Amino acid sequence: MGLVDGKVAIVTGGGANIGEACAKMLASNGASVVIADINLEGARRVADEIKEAGGTAMASAVDLGDEDTIVAMVTAAVERFGKINILHNNAANTGAEQMTRDGSLAEMDQQVWDAAFDINTRGTMLVTKHTAPQIIAAGGGSIINTSSGVSLLGDVLNPAYSASKAAVNALTRNTAAQFGQANIRCNAILPGLVLSPVARAQMSEEQLSMIQRHVLLPRESVADDIAGAVLWLASDLSSFVTGQIISADGGICHHQPHYADMMDMFAKA
Ligand SMILES: NC(=O)c1ccc[n+]([C@@H]2O[C@H](COP(=O)([O-])OP(=O)(O)OC[C@H]3O[C@@H](n4cnc5c(N)ncnc54)[C@H](O)[C@@H]3O)[C@@H](O)[C@H]2O)c1
Repeated sequence: MGLVDGKVAIVTGGGANIGEACAKMLASNGASVVIADINLEGARRVADEIKEAGGTAMASAVDLGDEDTIVAMVTAAVERFGKINILHNNAANTGAEQMTRDGSLAEMDQQVWDAAFDINTRGTMLVTKHTAPQIIAAGGGSIINTSSGVSLLGDVLNPAYSASKAAVNALTRNTAAQFGQANIRCNAILPGLVLSPVARAQMSEEQLSMIQRHVLLPRESVADDIAGAVLWLASDLSSFVTGQIISADGGICHHQPHYADMMDMFAKA
């Protein structure tokens, strides 16, 4: 028996990487999954792979920057599966061009700033706005927002992305507060660095090892690390957990700044 048997889940950005792993994890645990992505080809591939593995899924085109497409996606999901119980707000504007231009605050292009907030924050809010009434009609359920460890800490890179994800943390608490009495839980998952092909392509080996030496566990993070946490939050195992900002990052955002240097010093002693 799966942990989300009989439930219907929407996963935004489910057509690749972390969203794909989350969609497949939910499907293999019994949920019917709507793979909602701006990349319809990717969404169709993931839906097909879920079906080939014996699960239930449909692909749906959506652009988080366009409210009409969000309404159409939610409508299509309800028409196909009759209800919605779980929403995983996973999609974000993480394209290479956006992230490369999201650098110095002193040179920040307003369009780059807005492009982060339009998709990551407003898009998450709009999908929640249109999905929550369906989850309420189904008797309640779970909303999981994917934020990021960078929402917690200062850095020299990606201030627009980081601020947009900090806003997702605030949105998570507000969603939990506004819909709690309707039996909807809402929590955020904060990955550290998950080395999807996209993430790996954006980083030099030097940057990777700089980051990896601050992970407390002895390996790189994979998409299933996030999918496992999302499954737990989607399922009744977390039935009294709401309004929480939960890191699934191998501890990278949760140690003393001197940790890696101290470990190097111990290794040399
Ligand atoms: N990979 C990491 O290291 C990492 C770390 C922290 C947080 N995250 C977060 O995890 C989530 C998934 O990250 P990922 O690495 O798998 O990203 P990704 O870029 O590989 O995948 C994102 C997916 O979202 C879709 N998408 C992009 N814009 C969209 C839009 N406007 N409308 C609908 N779909 C859209 C893309 O087509 C893609 O399928 C994101 O919220 C990201 O911010 C990732």
